[in-house]
Amino acid sequence: MNKQIADIEEIISSAGKSKTGANLKFFLETYGCQMNFSDSELVTSILLDQGYIPSATPSDADLILTNTCAIRENAEEKVRKRLYEFRKLKLRKPELVVGILGCMAERLKEKLVEEEDCIDLVVGPDAYRTLPACIAEVREGRKGVNVILSKEETYSDIQPVRLGGNGVTALISIMRGCDNMCSFCVVPFTRGRERSRNPDTIVNEARNLFSMGYREVTLLGQNVNSYQWNDTSFAKLLERVAMVSPLLRIRFSTSNPQDMTDEVLYTIKKYHNICKYIHLPVQSGSDRVLQIMNRSYNRSFYLERIKAIREIIPGCGISTDIIAGFCSETEEEHAETLTLMQEAGYNFAYMFKYSERPGTLAARKYKDDIPEEVKSRRLSEIIELHRQISHQSNINDLNTVHEVLVEGRSRKSSQYMFGRNTQNKVIVFPADGHKQGTYVQVLVKKCTTATLIGEVING
Ligand code: 5AD
Ligand code: SF4
Repeated sequence: MNKQIADIEEIISSAGKSKTGANLKFFLETYGCQMNFSDSELVTSILLDQGYIPSATPSDADLILTNTCAIRENAEEKVRKRLYEFRKLKLRKPELVVGILGCMAERLKEKLVEEEDCIDLVVGPDAYRTLPACIAEVREGRKGVNVILSKEETYSDIQPVRLGGNGVTALISIMRGCDNMCSFCVVPFTRGRERSRNPDTIVNEARNLFSMGYREVTLLGQNVNSYQWNDTSFAKLLERVAMVSPLLRIRFSTSNPQDMTDEVLYTIKKYHNICKYIHLPVQSGSDRVLQIMNRSYNRSFYLERIKAIREIIPGCGISTDIIAGFCSETEEEHAETLTLMQEAGYNFAYMFKYSERPGTLAARKYKDDIPEEVKSRRLSEIIELHRQISHQSNINDLNTVHEVLVEGRSRKSSQYMFGRNTQNKVIVFPADGHKQGTYVQVLVKKCTTATLIGEVING
């Protein structure tokens, strides 16, 4: 049995019967970014410690929690729709407790329990330790609300429990919050001030994961390059985690262009196990738009960083985030985003239409004046160009050999396994007895716009 599953079973069977969750089942659903998925692993740990047992479906749970995202309006709409289902379950089972966690909880606070009659609990990202107390409040007939943000909380002493993972790749949160105040972004309001986690606890977590059989960790933060704990910078932290084992791959996300120093680039170059992949959100290719977005770099600074990456780490994979149709964006400015995409040559991009978020600087200061159909058209142009660029990048990989960490069976066919190369590209190859968590050398023979397909050449 996988060591992690054995550990979880032990936690479940040893959970004290007197704890608040004894013999009760919880169902936890997660939306949004990797940070939310990582937070859900903390919440799982807190609930297991209370004696709760995980449930695979909401219908037989006693406690339903939804860890939510607030970054764009459609993320919140999805959660509101899901609440219809939970309301139906609650009509059948009135003692069912329904809670909202995460960024939407933090943004809307008590308003959520006023607007949605099925919600009993609202707990923000810095208040998960108080979940048992909030649940106790609900049992006593009150609503359990805690949305207090903290300047110190990093949950560094809580061991995340990674239910349902692949046992090969894991997320490690290294910091919380964000101080950047990009004008479009709700995150500084929902996740509070930036704070770094003690590096010793991060390295220990990586070591434990490695001994449990994990072979890749992703260090997470809203702005990992500004990580700082006494004299440990992000570059030093990367180095310490890289030294856990040469067989443990390290990834990290997200990097802010203004903080991507050469020191970090040289550290990535120095260690084979630090993946040659950088996610560097640009948002826009226009200097004026970047300025009103309150991003603290301009186009030429950004492209100079891309050049530094290419020079210091040849072959490095680069991905980005792009927003189409930000307030007052002209056609020329949109075209500048397209030319920047071509110059940067991204392997991958996350592309969004601007969505106004109440309370942000942009919502207070600028008009969301780009008509919906213009935003949609600009976004399709960005997506189409991205498709061409990434397809070309995949074509360039044909007939080359890549080291792949095997993550599991391909979703499309059980005859195939899949994994990623150091540049984070997904590579599919015939299963032939290759095991999860091992490294194989794959010769790429074919590609689609999104995937490389190859054959293992090292038996
Ligand atoms: N509208 C659209 N996209 C947004 N993002 C953040 N806020 C918004 C918004 N209001 C995007 C940015 C960011 C990514 C995580 O989400 O591109 O980098
Ligand atoms: Fe939002 Fe900007 Fe912070 Fe990213 S860096 S979370 S976009 S404020």
